[in-house]
Amino acid sequence: MTKLLLKNIKTLVQVRKNAPAKLSGKEMSELPCIDNAWMACEDGVIVDFGSMDDFPGITDWKGLEVIDCSGKLVFPSYADSHTHIVYAGNREGEFADRIKGLSYEEIANKGGGILNSAELLNKTSEDELYVQSLQRFKEVIELGTGAIEIKSGYGLSVEGELKMLRVIKRLKDLNWIPVKATFLGAHAVPKQFKDNKQGYIDLIINQMLPAIAKEKLADFIDVFCEKGYFTAEETKLILEAGFKYGLVGKVHAEQMSHSSGIKTAVECKAISVDHLEFCNDADIEILKKSDTMPTILPGAAFFLNLPLPPARKMIDAGLPVAFASDYNPGSSPSGNLNFALSMACVQYRLTPEEAINSVTINSAYAMNLSDEVGSITVGKRANFFITKSINSYSFIPYSFANFLIESVYTNGMKFNSR
Ligand code: NIG
Ligand code: FE
Repeated sequence: MTKLLLKNIKTLVQVRKNAPAKLSGKEMSELPCIDNAWMACEDGVIVDFGSMDDFPGITDWKGLEVIDCSGKLVFPSYADSHTHIVYAGNREGEFADRIKGLSYEEIANKGGGILNSAELLNKTSEDELYVQSLQRFKEVIELGTGAIEIKSGYGLSVEGELKMLRVIKRLKDLNWIPVKATFLGAHAVPKQFKDNKQGYIDLIINQMLPAIAKEKLADFIDVFCEKGYFTAEETKLILEAGFKYGLVGKVHAEQMSHSSGIKTAVECKAISVDHLEFCNDADIEILKKSDTMPTILPGAAFFLNLPLPPARKMIDAGLPVAFASDYNPGSSPSGNLNFALSMACVQYRLTPEEAINSVTINSAYAMNLSDEVGSITVGKRANFFITKSINSYSFIPYSFANFLIESVYTNGMKFNSR
């Protein structure tokens, strides 16, 4: 393994001696940095850092790669705690239909939406699905993502769900970045069970879950709690069934309507609740008494023209907030967290400090990776990126839709698409 020394770093961003698991309310407005800094990595982890005024005396230069970062910033890589990057094909036809006036719901009712992706996925071989997904995996790493959660949910059959989770496992086994797998069999009710939702729930609980647990394919279990998908009661049943196999809950909650997903998720001790467009004041009170991470998916709200979730209100109420991409073919066909940072600031009124905390420390918490990623901390993975020459960290959200990352490192090595 190479030893790496970054020197003359204009600003080393998100430096934490003792990294907190999450940041809530006012804590989110602090972003500790060191100007004119150095950082050392060895065997894929961060081993030390400091100010250039106290540059370490190096006696052993053998095998040491030195990078001069003059004029450039170094960030811990983004943690993307909500994605669906394993899917087959695309849905740009539905995009055009929506522009012409059809709603997401109307498209779904016509057999489009998630069921459209499921049909395609079940016709695609595991190897082909892997090839398509690998391309997106590389793409997001190059965009600065250094840890990712990936969901199943386009199989909606025992074989289809296993196929997706096996592809996620193959991506994880590359060991490029930490990958967490989420079983989302309850993403929609497949056509064959159109008039027998309970039959499908039984299939999830009695057949999918045991098969997934046997192959140890999932870390989390998720449910799309929404009108026309799964009710709060059904969500609870499914999360509790997953819990028996050691899977921690996550919930797609209050996205298109208020469906009591937040309340249910908190009751089931879910690690995160995601989307939250229709989150109300009572939900904020419920979240205050929980360890569940409210997670905003600005790409989906933007792409579907949904009302904005009350992120500002949540932070002002003392809650933590994470932001993630929701990269998927239907509601957010982008995994670019640089753009998510701009949306967090411009649309949701987060300060750059709050926004950066929301895509690093807080999103790492939302996938149980607080010990591994999310900050520049000794012992954490050396997953970071070096920016182009820029003035300050605010320049990233400010320069919306521009790309300011010069190079990406994973496990202390330069990532170049291999
Ligand atoms: O997170 N909300 C449900 N699931 C996805 C959309 C999936 C799709 O349309 O394919 C989401 O937005
Ligand atoms: Fe999603």
